[in-house]
Amino acid sequence: MRILVLNGPNLGLLGTREPEIYGRVTLAGIVESVKARAAERGVEIVHLQSDVEGALVAALGKARSSCDGVIMNPAAFTHCSVALHDAIAACGLPVVEVHISNVYRREGYRHESLTAPCCAGQITGFGPYGYILAFDALMEILSAKTVNK
Ligand code: DQA
Repeated sequence: MRILVLNGPNLGLLGTREPEIYGRVTLAGIVESVKARAAERGVEIVHLQSDVEGALVAALGKARSSCDGVIMNPAAFTHCSVALHDAIAACGLPVVEVHISNVYRREGYRHESLTAPCCAGQITGFGPYGYILAFDALMEILSAKTVNK
C-alpha cells in the first residue's frame, strides 16, 4: 500500500515559519514521523511539497493510478482553490485534510475550506500529530471498517 503526503504553499518553511502558530517541527520531521508510523504497517509513504497549485493538482492526478490514499495539507489553497477541490473529487481516492493550526480559531477567511467537502474528513489543530491521526484514519478507511471514503 502506498500513501501520498501532499503539502501546499509555505509548508516547506515549517520550523521557522510563525512558530507561535505552527511550532518548531520541520516538514522533514513531520514526514519522518509519518514514515515511521507507516513502516509499522508496511505502508510506503511518498511525499511532495509545492508552492505551486498546478503541481499539487498534477500530483493528485498521478496518485489516481499509483497510490491508495492521500494525506493533504493544502495550506492557503484550502480557502480559495476550486482546482484542488476538483482534483480531489476526480482522484477517486480517500483524502484526509490536515491543518497544523486550528483554522476555526483563526481569521474568518480560514473557516471556509473549498477542499474539505471532497475529503473523507478533516483534522485541524493538533499540530504535527495531525498527520499521524490522518494516517491512522486512512488506514481505518482503507481497511473498510469505515464507510466514509
Ligand atoms: C494551514 C492553515 C492555513 O490557513 C494556512 O494558510 C497554512 C497552514 C495549517 O496547517 O494550519 O498555510 O493549512
